[in-house]
Formats: sequence, structure tokens, C-alpha cells
Amino acid sequence: MIKRLFFLLSLLGAVLVFESCKDSTANYHDSSNSRKVSTTSNPEIQKKVTELMSKMSLEDKVGEMTQLTIDMLLEGRTFNIKEPQRFDQAKLEKALVDHRVGSILNVAGHAYPLERWHEMMDTIHQYAMKKDTKIPVLYGIDAIHGANYTLGSTLFPQQIGMAASFDRELTTEIGRITAYETAASWIPWTFSPVADLGRDRRWPRVWEGFGEDVYVTQELTKALTVGYQGEDIADPYRVAACLKHYLGYSVPLVGKDRTQALIPKRQLFEYHVPPFKAGIDAGAKTVMVCSGEVNGIPVHADKYLLTDLLRDELGFEGLLVTDWDDINYLYERHKVAKDYKDAIRISINAGIDMSMVPVDLDFPVLLAELVREGEVPMSRIDESVRRILTLKFELGLFDAPYPKDTDFSDFASAKHIATSLKAASESIVLAKNEKNLLPLSKDSRVLVTGPTANSITAMNGGWSRTWQGTDPQYNTPGKLTISEAISTLVGKSQFTYVEGTSYNEAVNINTAVAAAKKSDVVVICLGEMPYCEKPGDIDDLNLPDAQADMVNAIAKTGKPIVLVMIGGRPRIISPFADAADAIMLGFLPGHEGGKAIANLLFGDANPSAKLPLTYPRFSNSLETYDHKWTDIQNRDFSLNGFNPQWDFGHGLSYTTFKYSNIKLNQSAFALDEEIEISVDIENTGNLAGKEAVLLFVADKVASISPSVRRLRGFEKIELQPGDKRTVTFNLSPQDLSFVGIDYEWITEPGAFEVQIGGLTTNFEIID
Ligand code: BGC
Repeated sequence: MIKRLFFLLSLLGAVLVFESCKDSTANYHDSSNSRKVSTTSNPEIQKKVTELMSKMSLEDKVGEMTQLTIDMLLEGRTFNIKEPQRFDQAKLEKALVDHRVGSILNVAGHAYPLERWHEMMDTIHQYAMKKDTKIPVLYGIDAIHGANYTLGSTLFPQQIGMAASFDRELTTEIGRITAYETAASWIPWTFSPVADLGRDRRWPRVWEGFGEDVYVTQELTKALTVGYQGEDIADPYRVAACLKHYLGYSVPLVGKDRTQALIPKRQLFEYHVPPFKAGIDAGAKTVMVCSGEVNGIPVHADKYLLTDLLRDELGFEGLLVTDWDDINYLYERHKVAKDYKDAIRISINAGIDMSMVPVDLDFPVLLAELVREGEVPMSRIDESVRRILTLKFELGLFDAPYPKDTDFSDFASAKHIATSLKAASESIVLAKNEKNLLPLSKDSRVLVTGPTANSITAMNGGWSRTWQGTDPQYNTPGKLTISEAISTLVGKSQFTYVEGTSYNEAVNINTAVAAAKKSDVVVICLGEMPYCEKPGDIDDLNLPDAQADMVNAIAKTGKPIVLVMIGGRPRIISPFADAADAIMLGFLPGHEGGKAIANLLFGDANPSAKLPLTYPRFSNSLETYDHKWTDIQNRDFSLNGFNPQWDFGHGLSYTTFKYSNIKLNQSAFALDEEIEISVDIENTGNLAGKEAVLLFVADKVASISPSVRRLRGFEKIELQPGDKRTVTFNLSPQDLSFVGIDYEWITEPGAFEVQIGGLTTNFEIID
């Protein structure tokens, strides 16, 4: 049946209409039922901002719009700072006083201890107070999985792992603790969460996001934002969040970081916009711009995306910051500006509020020139400065530039560490467990081998103590690698460790094979070494041969093999996956990952994570679970070519869950009626366990070819053996809407199939 009626969400009062900058007029209707948070709504703060701005010169204002890296204030050359690091008085004076720089970011090379942060914040503040305006500096940092640039802080699984947990509350709690420990470092702003979709598994930043699904990314972006910001960012234990990297960053055409993306308008709105919209509606105070280009326009130059869509349609009222050096790159890389000054003109007029410059002081000078020459209107500057000052007031920086008298005794406390261990346990997917090899007996003689077996840095990934996360000297002492944690559990006499291979070179495979022969079971830990951004680009999603060779060599011994994968993206393991009896996919679980993996392997914890992305089997088959029917055609034109290593949502447990009694409150729904879907889940095994209950809906026929299914709900539950629970999902027909032919969000009447835990049922939406 061809569906006819288009239900416009304008009926719900959520109409967003915009003019497409490029072609025809298009309408974008927001499908979420959102709370709008106004960052400029507090009249008292606005009064203070207006008063302050009335006393500010143009130089004061452009200074506020400038963000420098901390290197610019330290002795030595930028990126080659002298150790031990010390402030350079002349540089402080020049940047913070002469140029009135309003914001500083990150670390010079590596993490600092808490006390060092305190001294630094205090010094920076002393210099900021030398300015006539007395405007405090806003410090921003990539605290993306804990306060990772503060030594000794609690590190959590990276976002991809939190997505695998399918746990909103846990994600919020991790955000809260990260905010606490970042605030303990006296830093009020984190560049997190990443709201980009991990739909291209080649991209080196997949692990920084919540996986491939729009709904999961929406929900967890909200959860993490709320965790960082709480009810009020003036709370000394909270920090401002930053949604990044707006927009279209994660699907580069060639799979490499910071290369062009080509995204059709429908996909842009239906897939990439909603997670940002969710974060904005959750009150995120800041947004960072995408370093790439979408459809030929570098995002930093795209007024349509940065102003028309972000401000006028998505309702964002906070601070918009560039990514690293990206104004300059409009000239140097993208070639859309004739020089740096031209690049500044383009990007500020497009809607940028603050430039992460971050290594020169020409930006404020050239921007002031552009204003005097009439190339950038003063109104544009005032708008940005108002947003920056509003945030500084909202954070309470004018009253207390740092939370000096606040008790932070929970920094890296046992409670925080316990949450990290819990999160790590819930982020690791048990993908295969033939003949119930796992959990292993603690009496087994175990060989542990492989490049990720004895590395904390491999489990932390990038943005861990250093940008690339590769230097182990900054690791928190006492954290256990996978190998150390297993040795602790089974005892030294039962345990052997042999490196086997490095990431890409055989080291002592023969020794590993010999040791395997003397063991009852072999735990082979493979995967990736840490990386971040551009340095993480790869030419081949397959793992290096050395890793495959080792598995195949050990397999010849006939000993049972458990494969543990560590890394940021799903590297292809099909050439040797069959040789393993059990497989755990650890992603980047953080520095409690060793303990978590050992506990899971030996049954001290029960796996509950599920895959937040489709794990590919072959490098030319990188479909997502919500592909179109035609995306999986076989050579014979049949529509059953979808054959990933593991599907989205796959994940095993040591207990068994029986799904039954899938039910709808009615079989047909009008467009304004609520759809109630329930299902019973029973723990039919012998162990307590957690289960992520995933609800998919397939739109059977639609005017825009539908995906085979889309995730429309999830709930994480815990059941004791024998316990049974009914889980109920409430959807509205608008939750099933898509961006239609006219670029409007629509829900079409017709037939739909609900799928939960292998059960299905059908309903109709009626005109
Ligand atoms: C990254 C951002 C990060 C920024 C500041 C950039 O290179 O793309 O994600 O927040 O640097 O460190």
C-alpha cells in the first residue's frame, strides 16, 4: 500500500522551518518533544553582561573570542615546552593582559597533578585580573572519559563502551564523576560529549562516540550532558559540556579523519542532526564545530549550518567554539579563503563565537581590523561576546574563578573507582562462547599472550594522560593490565605470560605456542594500540598479519582459545575468529579494564554489554544494521546479503533470558495515540544478570525506502535467577517519523513490525 497521509509535526507545535542555503526551500521538522533551555533567559545575568559590555573596547571583545593552548603561556617553544614546565611571565602578560585572551585550553604535552592545576589556574587568574575589565579566563579541556588530563584521576570506558552498556543512568553517573574530578582540577569546561555517529567503522574517532545508532547516540548524549552539567553549572561540582563535532564529521568519504563528507540532506537531518538536537535540548552550554567539510563547504565557513540551522532551527543559544586551528585551515587546507584574515572574516560572519586559535595572537588583531574595515559587523562581535560572558557568569566565574574552598575528597575515591570498574564490566561484550568455555575455572593453567595483554594504555585509548594516550609513564600506579589481573585471580603458579606479537610484528610466537601446549586454556589479547584523530587513520580494517598468525599458530595446539579484543574500532577478525572458542570485545574499557576482563573471564562478573555497532566480517561489507534492503543484495539479486561478524545489539550472558508475551495495547493507532509495547523477560539461568532490552521497529512500506529496522527504545534491567519482569515501551507515532520527500519529518500510515528479543508483532498506523 502506498501511504498517503503525511503527518506534520507542526501539529505538535514543534515546527522548524528553514531555508536551505544551497538549493530549494526545505522544511525541517523536529521529531523530538523537547524542553528548550535558554542560556540567555536569566535577566539578572543579562543585565550584568550588558553593563560589562558597555565598558568593553573592541580589543577587549576580540580578546574574549580568542582561545589559546596553554603552551602559549609556558617557557619554551610551543609543542616543545621546557620541563619542568613553568609559566613565562612575558607570555602571560602579552596574552592575558595585552591581548585580553578570554580562554585557554588543555595541557602542554601531558597530564598534571591536581596541585599543579591549582597553581596554574591561580596564576592565570592573577593575570586576568590585571585587565581593566577583570573578566576571568574560561579554561576548557578534553576531559572525555574522566578528568584524563589530571594525574591519578578516575578513568572510565570511552564513549563507545558506555554505548555498549546501554545504560543511561550509568552514563550520567560517569558524567557526574568526570565533572567532579575536572572541577577538582579547578577547570569548569569539558569538550565532551561527542555526538557524532560512528557509522563509518574505518574512521579513527569511532570510539569517541556512542556507536552507529541515532537513538542510542541521542539518549546517551543527553545522559552524559546531564551528568556533566547537573541542574545548574554554577554548582562547584559541575562543568559546562560541549557537543562536538557539529556537524557531519564522522562519515568522511574515504574513512580518514578530517577529510570531506558527502551527506545528502535527508541523511543529514534524519541521522546527524538529532543527537546534537538532543544535547541542545538537554541544555548543553557549548558546541564545537566539525573540522571537516560537508558537501564541499568546510563547516567552519558554513553560515547555513552554524547560524541558520544551529541557532534559528535547533535553538542553540550557547557558545560556539571552533576546533583546533580550524579558522586558519580554511585558508591552509580547505582553500576557501585567500589568506588567514579572509578566513577569519568568513568564519566569524558564519557564526563562530570563539576561535580555538590556538597558537598565535594574530587572530584578535586581524579580527579587530576586520571590524574597523566594516568586513565583520560589530553586532556579530557583540552577539558572540554576550554568549561567552553569559557562560562565564553562569559558571559563577566572576564570583569564584575556581572552587578553592570546595571539598573534593572524593577525587579518585574508592567509590569513583568502583563505578569505573562497574562501567568497564558493563561495557565489554561477550560475542562468542562455544560450548560454554567461559567462565573459566580458576584452577586452569592459563597462558596470556598478545599485544594488548599487558598494556594499560591500550585499554585507555587516546585522550589518556597525553593526547595520543601512548605514554605509560603517566598511568596511575597500581592499575592492573589484563595479564596482571588474571595472574592475581588464578595465582602465579597457574599463570604464564608471553608477549607473542607486538601490534604488527611477531615477537616470540614460538615461545607462545610452546607455553600454550603446557596450558589448559590460552587467552589471546589482540587489537589496537592507542591513537587519536589523524594519527589513527588506517589503510586496512583487517588486523596486522602478525596477530592473525599468532592465533592460527596457537590454534594448531588444539588448546581452547579465548580471544580478547581491545581497541577503538571493530577491526576485522574473520580470518581467524573461527579458531577461537570464546571472544570478548573490550573496546576501550579504561584503566579498570584489566580487572573487569579478568572478572568476566573467570565468572566473578556476568557480561551484559551489547554491540553498539555492526561488527563487520569483511572490509567491503561495512553496512550498518539499519541499512536499506537494497544495500545487502547478493550477486543473484536476492536481498539476504547482510552477513556481519556480529549484528548490532549482539551480546551474550552467562545466564539465559527468555522473552515472551510481546503485546501491544491496540493493533491500530491514530496519529495522536500512544503505542504501548510490552514484553516479559525471564532469567531462566542460574546466575543473576543484566539484560539490555532492545526494541526495533520496521516500517514495512514507505514513500522513502525504509531501513530494514530502526532501534526505537532500550531499557537495561537486572534479574535474579527465576525472576521475570515486564518491560513496557511507550512510543508515539512521531517516534517512527522520517525525513520525507519534502524534507519534512513525517509519519506515514501503514503497517509496522515490532521486534524485541527475537519476538515480533505487528500494528498499523491509520489515517
Ligand atoms: C579535536 C577536538 C578537541 C580539540 C581540543 C581537536 O583536535 O578534534 O575533539 O576537543 O582538539 O583538544
